[in-house]
Amino acid sequence: MPPAKKKMVIDQVIQQIEHLPTLPHVVMRVLSMAESPKISAIELSKTMDQTLAAKVLKMANSAYYGGRERNINSIQHAIMIVGFEAVKEIILTTSFFHTFHDARDVQALQPLWQHSMECALIGKRLAWMYRYDSLDEAYLSGLTHDIGRLVIQQYFSDQYWEIEEKTKAGKDLVEAEKEVLEMTHADIGGKIAERWRFPANLVDSIAHHHDRGWTVNPVLGKILYYADQFILGRLVFPSMLEAFSQEGMNYPATWDASDLASVEQILQEEMGKAQSMFSLATDKSPKTNSSPSA
Ligand SMILES: [Fe+2]
Ligand SMILES: [Fe+2]
Repeated sequence: MPPAKKKMVIDQVIQQIEHLPTLPHVVMRVLSMAESPKISAIELSKTMDQTLAAKVLKMANSAYYGGRERNINSIQHAIMIVGFEAVKEIILTTSFFHTFHDARDVQALQPLWQHSMECALIGKRLAWMYRYDSLDEAYLSGLTHDIGRLVIQQYFSDQYWEIEEKTKAGKDLVEAEKEVLEMTHADIGGKIAERWRFPANLVDSIAHHHDRGWTVNPVLGKILYYADQFILGRLVFPSMLEAFSQEGMNYPATWDASDLASVEQILQEEMGKAQSMFSLATDKSPKTNSSPSA
């Protein structure tokens, strides 16, 4: 593509980012809870519109959360029954998918959505394992890290197919994006995260989830990076631990081999959970297990 045309495409991408919907306010409320733990369930409910609140309660009542015969009818009730951690996950997940439920081609986005769901769940587990301060940040970074791919896929289909052709021919995804757009889905994701007013460490982790060029908080960046690599099958469990320790990050010293075996099992279970959670959050049953290379 000639340089002038590329410049035009970059401008269009930036414009498109400005027109993307913003995430519901409740997402930032959940994130700020680490600093203000006194935010109450009632306050959380007040920041959600009725449609979103109904979706959250529907998910909390689902069989997935063990709710076959109960009727959770408020956020406060949901916290009592399924626990605060689960309710925060439900709110973040539902808010994200609710924001993009009328994306142009939801069906084509399913592998990407499912991958994001897996990354949220695995990222949160890794954050817990490596004692990162905010599990919610890790969860949200996983959920949103490939949002730049949505922008390319939904709004720049010519470039999207050009990138697809290059990756099918064996080119690395990020390299292909640079050739076609002169920017990557991670660059685009970082700009979207800025527009959503995410904290700087979340913006940083999303913008650099491929090039590892973190400048704000490498710990969150590494958690997201390794969660992504693990899900894409580029790293298996023992070598992931090794890679973390080479970067100066260590799991609790008291853990023995059986603890690690349990963690490995938990990570595998989380991957399985992702599909059910995704179906619940989007009210759709994914047909395919194919995964993106992002
Ligand atoms: Fe990616
Ligand atoms: Fe990814």
